[in-house]
Amino acid sequence: MSQIEQASPNFYYFLCNPGSEKFLKEEIRLIYPELVFAYSTEGFVTFKETRRLGKTLRPVFCRHFGKFLKRGSLEEIKSTYVGRTLFYSLEGEVFESFPIKDGDWVKEIIKVSETQYYFGEFKASLLTAKTPGGFSLSTLPELAPSRAYLKVIDGAKYMGVQFPKNDYALEIGSSPGGATYALLEMGLRVEGIDPGVMDPVCLNHPKFLHHKVSIQDFHVSMLKDHVQWLFVDMNLAPEGSLREIEKVVEAIRPSLKGAFITLKMTKFELVSRVPMYLNIVGKMGLKVVMATQLPSHKQEFLIYAE
Ligand SMILES: C[S@@+](CC[C@H](N)C(=O)[O-])C[C@H]1O[C@@H](n2cnc3c(N)ncnc32)[C@H](O)[C@@H]1O
Repeated sequence: MSQIEQASPNFYYFLCNPGSEKFLKEEIRLIYPELVFAYSTEGFVTFKETRRLGKTLRPVFCRHFGKFLKRGSLEEIKSTYVGRTLFYSLEGEVFESFPIKDGDWVKEIIKVSETQYYFGEFKASLLTAKTPGGFSLSTLPELAPSRAYLKVIDGAKYMGVQFPKNDYALEIGSSPGGATYALLEMGLRVEGIDPGVMDPVCLNHPKFLHHKVSIQDFHVSMLKDHVQWLFVDMNLAPEGSLREIEKVVEAIRPSLKGAFITLKMTKFELVSRVPMYLNIVGKMGLKVVMATQLPSHKQEFLIYAE
C-alpha cells in the first residue's frame, strides 16, 4: 500500500489549457525563480518552492493554481480529510462542487490519473478559478458563428462582469462573429471592425453594425455611439494589436467601463514580453485588473482592464 506523500517543502500546482504548459513553465522561470519545475502531465504542472516565495503568485498562463498538500489514492486522501472539497478530474469531470466566494480557503481533490489524486488548497480570489479547475460551464450554442462566443462568456464570468442591456460594445477583430453573437444575445448593441465577413446571424441583427475595414483604415469618427465595452481579438502579434488599438482606446476612454483584450501568443519568446504588454495597456490610461488564460483560450491570453 502506498503512503500519502506529505509535502515539505511547499509545492504548487497549476491547471493549464493543454498546450500552454510550456508558457507557464517559462513564465515561472522568469518571474518566480523561487519555484523549480517538479512534474507535469497534460494540463497540470507542479513546482517546488526552493527559496521562500516572498511575493504574490499571479501567473498568466494557467486557469487556476493552488498549494499542494498531499497525494495518493482517493481512499487515502479521503481518509485523512473529512471536510468538504471540490473534486474534479484534469479532463474537466466535476464530481463534487460548492459555491465559492472570494476570501474562502478551499480544499480540492484533483484526479490526475486513475491511481493518482492530488489534494490541495487555495484562497479564493480574483487570481483563482471561479469554477472547479477553471473549466467552463458554458456550451457553444449551435447558432454561434465561432468558438470565440465562449471567450466572452468565460471572460465575463471570470471578471464578474454583468453587461447592462443596451450597453454599447465595440469589437475589433469581430469576424466571423462568435463574440459579437454572445454580446447581442445578452442584449448589447455592438459595432464590429473587421475586413472579414460577419455571419448573417450578426449581420442581420438590428443591434449590430459592421465596419468592414481593417483597424488601420478605421477612424474613430466612424463610431456611432459612446463605447462602454471594448473587445479586441485580432490575429496579429500582441505588439501589433496593442499599437493598432491605441487611438481607439484614447477616443473611447471617457465612456469605457471595461476592455477585454485577447492577445495571441504567436511565438514562445513572447512570454518574456507579457509584463511589457501589461505596461502598454496601463500607458493607454487603463488600469489592468487581470491577465489570465480562460478555458476557451488556445495560444492566447486575456488582459482585462478598466
Ligand atoms: C480570432 S479571429 C476573431 C474571432 C472573432 N472575435 C469571433 O468572435 O468570431 C481574428 C480576426 O482578426 C481579424 N483581423 C486581423 N487583422 C486585423 C486588422 N488589422 N483589423 C481588423 N481585424 C483584423 C481577422 O480578420 C479575423 O477575423
